Amino acid sequence: MDVGAGDGGYVFHRARTEPETFAIAIDASPDALVSGAWRAKRAGLTNLAFLVEGVERLPQELAGVANEVTIHFPWGSLLRGLSAADPTVLSPVAMLVKPGGTLRVLLSATERDGYADVSPGWLIRLTADYAAFGLDLDQARPADPSDVAKSRSAWSKRLGPARPVVFARYSRRSSRRGLISGGTSPARHGIQSTLNRPS
Ligand SMILES: C[S@@+](CC[C@H](N)C(=O)[O-])C[C@H]1O[C@@H](n2cnc3c(N)ncnc32)[C@H](O)[C@@H]1O
Repeated sequence: MDVGAGDGGYVFHRARTEPETFAIAIDASPDALVSGAWRAKRAGLTNLAFLVEGVERLPQELAGVANEVTIHFPWGSLLRGLSAADPTVLSPVAMLVKPGGTLRVLLSATERDGYADVSPGWLIRLTADYAAFGLDLDQARPADPSDVAKSRSAWSKRLGPARPVVFARYSRRSSRRGLISGGTSPARHGIQSTLNRPS
């Protein structure tokens, strides 16, 4: 499941190369998703779906259906919600991920754009906030070019190579133990970080 999917290029790629995978692209705006839906129809793919809805308004029927949720280069309320660990965004994102599943994000945000300057250290500081929704941080580090290439992001090409990008991966805890009340620390979870590298 790709949230803030834009033109759905990532979902299209996964569906085309993994026939056994059912992929879902979700975006608040129909503008780009429509072109992705037409592309999928022309390709005759039946193992993907497109949902036009803001993450804040996703139906409960989607709870726990995704083995994998990805969010690549979000903007607007999706970026603000992830970079501030806002429950209105984190709760529905966590809701989508099946217990034992993963959330992978690629974030690029700077204060010049009017957002928090998101770095690996910034996400590590939010570890407990994400853990409160059952999302345990496995890794936060500067993204490398292969992370960006794998995302198939049309938007990343517009940002250019000099732009700092952060990669983070979370695991959805399989029990509800520790949700909301349970704090956590990067050290306890053996989080990998490469904070000494430029971000
Ligand atoms: C910069 S585009 C990235 C698109 C695609 N992931 C890519 O990398 O090419 C950010 C997308 O996030 C979507 N978005 C922003 N806020 C959202 C929200 N609250 N719920 C769902 N989608 C949202 C926007 O509509 C936009 O398509």
